[in-house]
Amino acid sequence: MKHIYTNIYSFNKNVLKKTISSLKSRNIASLPTETVYGLAGNAYSKEAIKKIFVLKKRPKKNPLIVHYFDISNAKKDVLFNNNFFKLYKKFCPGPITFVLKKKKNSKIIPLVTANLDTVAIRFPSHKIIRTILKFLSFPLAMPSANISSGISPVSPIDVFEEFKKKIKIIINGGESKIGIESTVVDLTDFPKILRPGIISSKDIKNVLKINLSKKKTKLKSPGMLKKHYSPGIPVILGKKPSNQKDAYIVFGKKHKSRNNYFNLSKKGNLKEAAANLYKTMRKIKKKGYKKIFVSNIPSFGPGVAINDRLKRASK
Ligand code: TXA
Ligand code: MG
Repeated sequence: MKHIYTNIYSFNKNVLKKTISSLKSRNIASLPTETVYGLAGNAYSKEAIKKIFVLKKRPKKNPLIVHYFDISNAKKDVLFNNNFFKLYKKFCPGPITFVLKKKKNSKIIPLVTANLDTVAIRFPSHKIIRTILKFLSFPLAMPSANISSGISPVSPIDVFEEFKKKIKIIINGGESKIGIESTVVDLTDFPKILRPGIISSKDIKNVLKINLSKKKTKLKSPGMLKKHYSPGIPVILGKKPSNQKDAYIVFGKKHKSRNNYFNLSKKGNLKEAAANLYKTMRKIKKKGYKKIFVSNIPSFGPGVAINDRLKRASK
Protein backbone atom coordinates (compact mmCIF):
# COMPACT_ATOMS: atom_id res chain seq x y z
CA MET A 1 0.00 0.00 0.00
CA LYS A 2 1.30 3.40 -0.94
CA HIS A 3 1.49 5.56 2.15
CA ILE A 4 -0.68 8.68 2.41
CA TYR A 5 1.94 10.99 3.87
CA THR A 6 3.27 12.12 0.51
CA ASN A 7 3.95 15.66 1.76
CA ILE A 8 6.18 14.49 4.64
CA TYR A 9 9.84 14.55 3.60
CA SER A 10 13.01 13.20 5.15
CA PHE A 11 15.66 15.88 5.22
CA ASN A 12 18.40 15.79 2.57
CA LYS A 13 20.07 18.17 0.11
CA ASN A 14 17.27 18.02 -2.43
CA VAL A 15 14.59 18.62 0.18
CA LEU A 16 16.62 21.52 1.57
CA LYS A 17 16.70 23.06 -1.93
CA LYS A 18 12.99 22.48 -2.46
CA THR A 19 12.13 24.01 0.92
CA ILE A 20 14.33 27.07 0.40
CA SER A 21 12.84 27.69 -3.01
CA SER A 22 9.30 27.26 -1.69
CA LEU A 23 9.87 29.70 1.19
CA LYS A 24 11.47 32.18 -1.23
CA SER A 25 8.33 31.97 -3.38
CA ARG A 26 6.31 33.09 -0.35
CA ASN A 27 4.88 29.64 0.38
CA ILE A 28 4.74 28.09 3.81
CA ALA A 29 6.25 24.86 5.10
CA SER A 30 6.05 22.93 8.35
CA LEU A 31 9.45 22.62 9.98
CA PRO A 32 10.68 20.79 13.07
CA THR A 33 12.06 22.61 16.10
CA GLU A 34 13.24 21.30 19.46
CA THR A 35 10.05 22.58 21.17
CA VAL A 36 7.17 21.85 18.75
CA TYR A 37 6.64 21.80 14.97
CA GLY A 38 6.12 25.20 13.34
CA LEU A 39 4.38 26.64 10.30
CA ALA A 40 7.05 28.77 8.65
CA GLY A 41 6.83 31.72 6.28
CA ASN A 42 8.96 34.70 5.22
CA ALA A 43 8.52 37.33 7.96
CA TYR A 44 9.15 40.07 5.37
CA SER A 45 6.39 38.90 3.00
CA LYS A 46 2.76 39.93 3.51
CA GLU A 47 1.62 37.17 1.17
CA ALA A 48 3.39 34.44 3.16
CA ILE A 49 2.19 35.73 6.52
CA LYS A 50 -1.42 35.96 5.34
CA LYS A 51 -1.26 32.29 4.37
CA ILE A 52 -0.16 31.35 7.90
CA PHE A 53 -3.03 33.24 9.55
CA VAL A 54 -5.61 31.77 7.16
CA LEU A 55 -4.39 28.19 7.47
CA LYS A 56 -4.20 28.28 11.26
CA LYS A 57 -7.47 30.24 11.59
CA ARG A 58 -5.46 32.47 13.87
CA PRO A 59 -6.97 35.70 15.24
CA LYS A 60 -5.16 38.69 13.69
CA LYS A 61 -4.47 40.18 17.11
CA ASN A 62 -2.23 37.27 18.10
CA PRO A 63 1.35 38.06 16.96
CA LEU A 64 3.88 35.52 15.65
CA ILE A 65 7.41 34.69 16.78
CA VAL A 66 10.18 35.53 14.29
CA HIS A 67 12.98 32.94 14.07
CA TYR A 68 16.62 33.74 13.24
CA PHE A 69 19.85 31.83 12.76
CA ASP A 70 21.77 34.12 15.10
CA ILE A 71 22.12 37.55 16.61
CA SER A 72 23.69 39.14 13.51
CA ASN A 73 20.54 38.42 11.47
CA ALA A 74 18.21 39.78 14.15
CA LYS A 75 19.93 43.11 14.70
CA LYS A 76 18.29 44.65 11.63
CA ASP A 77 14.86 44.17 13.16
CA VAL A 78 15.05 44.68 16.93
CA LEU A 79 16.75 46.76 19.58
CA PHE A 80 18.90 44.62 21.88
CA ASN A 81 19.58 45.36 25.55
CA ASN A 82 21.85 43.93 28.24
CA ASN A 83 19.30 41.49 29.62
CA PHE A 84 18.90 40.12 26.13
CA PHE A 85 22.66 39.64 25.65
CA LYS A 86 22.95 37.80 28.96
CA LEU A 87 20.08 35.42 28.23
CA TYR A 88 21.15 34.90 24.61
CA LYS A 89 24.64 33.91 25.74
CA LYS A 90 23.29 31.41 28.24
CA PHE A 91 20.35 29.82 26.42
CA CYS A 92 20.67 30.32 22.65
CA PRO A 93 20.17 28.65 20.36
CA GLY A 94 17.39 27.10 22.43
CA PRO A 95 13.78 27.09 23.68
CA ILE A 96 13.42 30.75 24.70
CA THR A 97 11.68 33.68 22.98
CA PHE A 98 12.45 37.35 23.67
CA VAL A 99 10.03 40.22 23.25
CA LEU A 100 12.00 43.33 22.25
CA LYS A 101 11.33 46.73 20.69
CA LYS A 102 11.03 46.63 16.93
CA LYS A 103 13.35 48.90 14.94
CA LYS A 104 11.61 51.64 12.93
CA ASN A 105 13.21 50.50 9.66
CA SER A 106 12.58 46.78 10.21
CA LYS A 107 11.12 44.92 7.23
CA ILE A 108 8.94 42.69 9.42
CA ILE A 109 5.35 42.81 8.15
CA PRO A 110 3.00 44.56 10.65
CA LEU A 111 0.66 41.55 10.53
CA VAL A 112 3.44 39.43 12.11
CA THR A 113 3.48 41.62 15.22
CA ALA A 114 -0.27 42.42 15.27
CA ASN A 115 0.74 46.05 14.72
CA LEU A 116 2.61 46.17 18.04
CA ASP A 117 5.87 48.10 18.32
CA THR A 118 7.53 44.98 19.74
CA VAL A 119 8.68 41.70 18.15
CA ALA A 120 9.06 38.26 19.69
CA ILE A 121 12.28 36.64 18.43
CA ARG A 122 13.70 33.15 18.86
CA PHE A 123 16.82 31.22 17.85
CA PRO A 124 15.79 27.56 17.65
CA SER A 125 18.41 24.84 18.16
CA HIS A 126 17.06 21.96 16.05
CA LYS A 127 19.65 21.13 13.40
CA ILE A 128 17.22 21.12 10.48
CA ILE A 129 15.64 24.50 11.18
CA ARG A 130 19.12 25.96 11.75
CA THR A 131 20.33 24.65 8.40
CA ILE A 132 17.33 26.18 6.66
CA LEU A 133 17.65 29.54 8.45
CA LYS A 134 21.33 29.69 7.50
CA PHE A 135 20.48 29.53 3.80
CA LEU A 136 17.75 32.17 3.88
CA SER A 137 18.12 35.93 3.48
CA PHE A 138 15.00 36.55 5.60
CA PRO A 139 13.79 35.37 9.02
CA LEU A 140 10.89 32.94 9.47
CA ALA A 141 7.67 33.83 11.22
CA MET A 142 6.63 30.53 12.70
CA PRO A 143 3.72 29.74 15.00
CA SER A 144 3.09 26.20 16.18
CA ALA A 145 1.70 24.08 13.31
CA ASN A 146 -1.81 23.53 14.67
CA ILE A 147 -5.24 25.06 14.13
CA SER A 148 -5.60 27.97 16.56
CA SER A 149 -6.53 27.06 20.18
CA GLY A 150 -5.58 23.38 19.77
CA ILE A 151 -2.47 21.64 21.06
CA SER A 152 0.89 21.98 19.33
CA PRO A 153 2.23 19.16 17.13
CA VAL A 154 5.37 17.32 18.21
CA SER A 155 5.80 15.03 15.17
CA PRO A 156 5.32 15.30 11.38
CA ILE A 157 2.28 13.01 11.60
CA ASP A 158 0.67 15.37 14.14
CA VAL A 159 1.12 18.19 11.61
CA PHE A 160 -0.32 16.03 8.83
CA GLU A 161 -3.36 15.27 10.95
CA GLU A 162 -3.94 19.00 11.50
CA PHE A 163 -3.62 20.15 7.89
CA LYS A 164 -3.52 17.04 5.68
CA LYS A 165 -2.34 18.09 2.18
CA LYS A 166 -2.94 21.81 2.70
CA ILE A 167 0.78 22.18 3.38
CA LYS A 168 3.03 21.17 0.50
CA ILE A 169 6.10 20.42 2.60
CA ILE A 170 6.29 18.93 6.09
CA ILE A 171 9.84 18.08 7.08
CA ASN A 172 10.42 15.07 9.29
CA GLY A 173 12.82 16.04 12.05
CA GLY A 174 11.74 13.31 14.46
CA GLU A 175 9.81 13.88 17.65
CA SER A 176 10.31 17.33 19.22
CA LYS A 177 12.55 16.67 22.23
CA ILE A 178 11.18 19.39 24.50
CA GLY A 179 7.56 18.87 23.54
CA ILE A 180 6.08 22.18 24.76
CA GLU A 181 6.45 25.70 23.37
CA SER A 182 9.35 28.02 24.20
CA THR A 183 9.43 30.24 27.30
CA VAL A 184 8.39 33.77 26.26
CA VAL A 185 10.09 36.55 28.20
CA ASP A 186 9.30 40.23 27.76
CA LEU A 187 12.50 42.29 27.91
CA THR A 188 11.07 45.65 26.83
CA ASP A 189 10.66 46.70 30.44
CA PHE A 190 11.36 45.00 33.74
CA PRO A 191 11.83 41.32 32.62
CA LYS A 192 8.64 39.32 32.83
CA ILE A 193 7.66 35.81 31.78
CA LEU A 194 4.66 35.90 29.43
CA ARG A 195 4.54 32.15 28.74
CA PRO A 196 6.29 29.61 31.01
CA GLY A 197 8.39 26.89 29.37
CA ILE A 198 11.19 24.42 29.99
CA ILE A 199 13.56 27.30 30.80
CA SER A 200 12.06 28.32 34.13
CA SER A 201 11.77 31.71 35.83
CA LYS A 202 14.43 30.50 38.27
CA ASP A 203 16.83 29.72 35.38
CA ILE A 204 16.27 33.24 34.06
CA LYS A 205 16.57 34.84 37.49
CA ASN A 206 19.91 33.06 37.99
CA VAL A 207 21.30 34.68 34.85
CA LEU A 208 19.85 38.17 35.24
CA LYS A 209 20.36 38.21 39.02
CA ILE A 210 17.11 40.10 39.55
CA ASN A 211 13.59 39.08 40.52
CA LEU A 212 11.24 38.93 37.57
CA SER A 213 8.21 41.17 37.38
CA LYS A 214 4.95 39.59 38.54
CA LYS A 215 2.94 42.61 37.52
CA LYS A 216 -0.30 41.75 35.75
CA THR A 217 -0.27 43.42 32.36
CA LYS A 218 -3.18 43.62 30.02
CA LEU A 219 -2.95 40.68 27.63
CA LYS A 220 0.66 41.22 26.63
CA SER A 221 0.95 37.79 25.12
CA PRO A 222 -2.30 37.00 23.38
CA GLY A 223 -1.29 33.32 23.38
CA MET A 224 -2.06 33.66 27.05
CA LEU A 225 -5.73 33.80 26.12
CA LYS A 226 -7.57 31.62 28.60
CA LYS A 227 -8.83 28.90 26.28
CA HIS A 228 -5.87 27.47 24.43
CA TYR A 229 -3.97 24.23 24.10
CA SER A 230 -7.24 22.28 23.99
CA PRO A 231 -7.10 18.62 22.89
CA GLY A 232 -10.73 18.89 21.69
CA ILE A 233 -12.26 16.87 24.56
CA PRO A 234 -12.97 18.03 28.14
CA VAL A 235 -9.98 18.14 30.51
CA ILE A 236 -10.74 17.93 34.24
CA LEU A 237 -7.95 18.78 36.68
CA GLY A 238 -7.07 17.34 40.07
CA LYS A 239 -9.63 14.52 39.93
CA LYS A 240 -9.68 10.79 39.33
CA PRO A 241 -12.18 9.40 36.80
CA SER A 242 -15.02 7.41 38.33
CA ASN A 243 -14.95 4.74 35.60
CA GLN A 244 -12.58 3.14 33.09
CA LYS A 245 -14.21 4.85 30.13
CA ASP A 246 -12.40 8.08 30.88
CA ALA A 247 -8.66 8.61 30.55
CA TYR A 248 -6.49 9.54 33.52
CA ILE A 249 -3.19 11.40 33.11
CA VAL A 250 -0.89 10.73 36.05
CA PHE A 251 2.68 11.53 37.10
CA GLY A 252 5.21 9.58 39.18
CA LYS A 253 5.72 6.05 40.43
CA LYS A 254 2.96 5.94 43.03
CA HIS A 255 0.33 5.36 40.31
CA LYS A 256 -0.75 1.88 39.23
CA SER A 257 -0.69 0.70 35.62
CA ARG A 258 -4.18 0.54 34.19
CA ASN A 259 -5.45 0.60 30.62
CA ASN A 260 -6.94 4.05 31.01
CA TYR A 261 -3.98 5.47 32.99
CA PHE A 262 -1.36 7.47 31.08
CA ASN A 263 1.77 8.24 33.06
CA LEU A 264 3.68 11.34 31.87
CA SER A 265 6.78 10.15 33.72
CA LYS A 266 6.98 7.02 35.85
CA LYS A 267 10.33 8.28 37.17
CA GLY A 268 8.68 11.48 38.34
CA ASN A 269 10.82 13.63 36.04
CA LEU A 270 9.10 16.90 35.09
CA LYS A 271 11.15 17.47 31.95
CA GLU A 272 10.14 14.04 30.68
CA ALA A 273 6.53 14.80 31.64
CA ALA A 274 6.58 18.02 29.59
CA ALA A 275 7.95 16.13 26.59
CA ASN A 276 5.11 13.60 26.90
CA LEU A 277 2.24 16.01 27.56
CA TYR A 278 0.90 16.82 24.07
CA LYS A 279 1.84 13.41 22.71
CA THR A 280 -0.21 11.78 25.47
CA MET A 281 -3.22 14.04 24.96
CA ARG A 282 -3.25 13.26 21.22
CA LYS A 283 -2.91 9.54 21.92
CA ILE A 284 -5.84 9.60 24.36
CA LYS A 285 -8.05 11.39 21.86
CA LYS A 286 -7.10 8.94 19.10
CA LYS A 287 -8.02 6.01 21.32
CA GLY A 288 -11.52 7.44 21.43
CA TYR A 289 -11.74 8.57 25.07
CA LYS A 290 -14.33 11.31 25.58
CA LYS A 291 -12.81 12.94 28.69
CA ILE A 292 -9.38 13.41 30.25
CA PHE A 293 -8.90 13.59 34.01
CA VAL A 294 -5.53 14.76 35.31
CA SER A 295 -3.94 14.09 38.71
CA ASN A 296 -1.94 16.81 40.48
CA ILE A 297 1.42 17.60 38.97
CA PRO A 298 4.11 19.40 41.02
CA SER A 299 4.30 23.09 40.26
CA PHE A 300 8.00 23.88 40.12
CA GLY A 301 10.56 23.99 37.26
CA PRO A 302 8.98 22.54 34.08
CA GLY A 303 5.91 21.75 36.22
CA VAL A 304 4.92 25.43 36.02
CA ALA A 305 4.69 25.21 32.21
CA ILE A 306 2.85 21.85 32.35
CA ASN A 307 0.26 23.22 34.78
CA ASP A 308 -0.12 26.40 32.72
CA ARG A 309 -0.97 24.37 29.58
CA LEU A 310 -3.28 22.00 31.50
CA LYS A 311 -5.15 24.86 33.10
CA ARG A 312 -5.79 26.47 29.72
CA ALA A 313 -6.70 23.10 28.18
CA SER A 314 -9.34 22.71 30.91
CA LYS A 315 -11.14 26.01 30.21
O1 TXA B 1 8.36 27.03 20.77
C1 TXA B 1 7.80 27.92 20.15
O2 TXA B 1 7.84 29.12 20.52
C2 TXA B 1 7.03 27.54 18.86
C3 TXA B 1 8.06 27.08 17.82
C4 TXA B 1 7.42 26.72 16.49
O3 TXA B 1 9.06 28.03 17.65
N1 TXA B 1 6.25 28.64 18.39
C5 TXA B 1 5.13 29.06 19.04
O4 TXA B 1 4.45 30.09 18.38
O5 TXA B 1 4.73 28.58 20.08
P1 TXA B 1 2.96 30.48 18.72
O6 TXA B 1 2.56 31.43 17.65
O7 TXA B 1 2.16 29.26 18.85
O8 TXA B 1 3.07 31.26 20.05
C6 TXA B 1 3.66 32.55 20.07
C7 TXA B 1 3.43 33.23 21.40
C8 TXA B 1 2.00 33.65 21.57
O9 TXA B 1 1.66 33.46 22.93
C9 TXA B 1 2.06 35.12 21.21
O10 TXA B 1 1.02 35.85 21.79
C10 TXA B 1 3.41 35.52 21.76
O11 TXA B 1 4.23 34.42 21.45
N2 TXA B 1 3.94 36.74 21.11
C11 TXA B 1 4.35 36.87 19.83
N3 TXA B 1 4.74 38.14 19.58
C12 TXA B 1 4.58 38.83 20.72
C13 TXA B 1 4.79 40.19 21.11
N4 TXA B 1 5.28 41.09 20.27
N5 TXA B 1 4.51 40.54 22.39
C14 TXA B 1 4.04 39.62 23.27
N6 TXA B 1 3.81 38.32 22.97
C15 TXA B 1 4.06 37.94 21.71
MG1 MG C 1 0.65 28.01 19.32
